[in-house]
Amino acid sequence: MKTTKDFKKMKKNGEQIVMVTAYDAPAAGIAETAGVDCLLVGDSLGMVVLGYESTVPVTLDDMVHHTKAVKRGARETFVITDMPFLTYHSSRSETIKHARRLVQEAGAHAIKMEGNGDVLTYTKYLVDAGVPVVNHLGLTPQSVGVFGGYHVQGKQESDAERLKNDAIKTEEAGACMLVLECVPESLAQQISQLLTIPVIGIGAGRFTDGQVLVYHDIIGYNDGHVPKFVKQYADINEIVKNAISQFSYDVKKRHFPEQAHVFQPLETSVSHLYG
Ligand code: KIV
Ligand code: NA
Repeated sequence: MKTTKDFKKMKKNGEQIVMVTAYDAPAAGIAETAGVDCLLVGDSLGMVVLGYESTVPVTLDDMVHHTKAVKRGARETFVITDMPFLTYHSSRSETIKHARRLVQEAGAHAIKMEGNGDVLTYTKYLVDAGVPVVNHLGLTPQSVGVFGGYHVQGKQESDAERLKNDAIKTEEAGACMLVLECVPESLAQQISQLLTIPVIGIGAGRFTDGQVLVYHDIIGYNDGHVPKFVKQYADINEIVKNAISQFSYDVKKRHFPEQAHVFQPLETSVSHLYG
C-alpha cells in the first residue's frame, strides 16, 4: 500500500498520482485491481449514490458506513474519507471526535476537509493528534450555498492570490495533500509548483501532481450530466439498461429461468446463495 510518504516522493519524481472516488466494496475492489494510487470516499456520495441535490445532507454516519464498505473491498489501498458538512467547524474536540470515527471506527487512512481559515487550525490539531489530513480548496462543494452555485474559482487576480496563500497555509498546517477543484489551469500549475505536498486536481488542468475523478463519471453511471472537466471512459448506463431490459424481456416471455438455473429435489451443491 502506498502511504503519504510515497505520494510526496511521487511528486518529487514527477510521477502522476491517480485518485478515484469509491463508495462501496465492489467498486473499491475494481479500482484497486485497476491499480489506482489512492481512493477517496468523497461526500459526492450524497449526489452520485444517495440521490441528494448537493453534498450538504451527507452525515458522518453515511461516511462511516461507506468507508467501511470501501475498506472491505480494497484492503491494499490508501483510503481518504471526506469529513461531511459542518462536522469540523464547531470546536477542536468535536473535530477530533468526528475524525476518530472515520479513522479508528471506519478505517480511513486520512480524512479530507474543505476550506481555509479555522479549518487550517483544525488541520494542525488533527495532524498533531496523528491523523493525516488532505485539504480541499478552489470549488468547495459544501459551500454551494455561499457560492450560490458551482463556479470556477480563482479567476480574478485577487481570488487567485488568496487561493495561493491558502494553499501555502494548508501545507504549513501539516496537510499531506491538497485537492484543488475547478480553478484555471495556470493557477493550479503555480500552486503545484509552490507546494512540496502533492496537489491533486479535478477540473484544474494538466499541470497538477495528480488527478481525481468521481468513479461514476469515469464509467458513465449517472443521470447523463457530465461536467466539462470529466473524461468518460465507458458508458455503463447503456450496458446496465440493456442488461435489465433483456432480463425483463426474458421474464415476460418465460425465457428465464432456464433449465440451468433451477434446483432439483435432493440437489446438494447450492453455491452463491444469499443469506
Ligand atoms: O466528494 C468528492 O468526490 C470530492 C472529489 C470530487 C475531490 O471531494
Ligand atoms: Na467531497
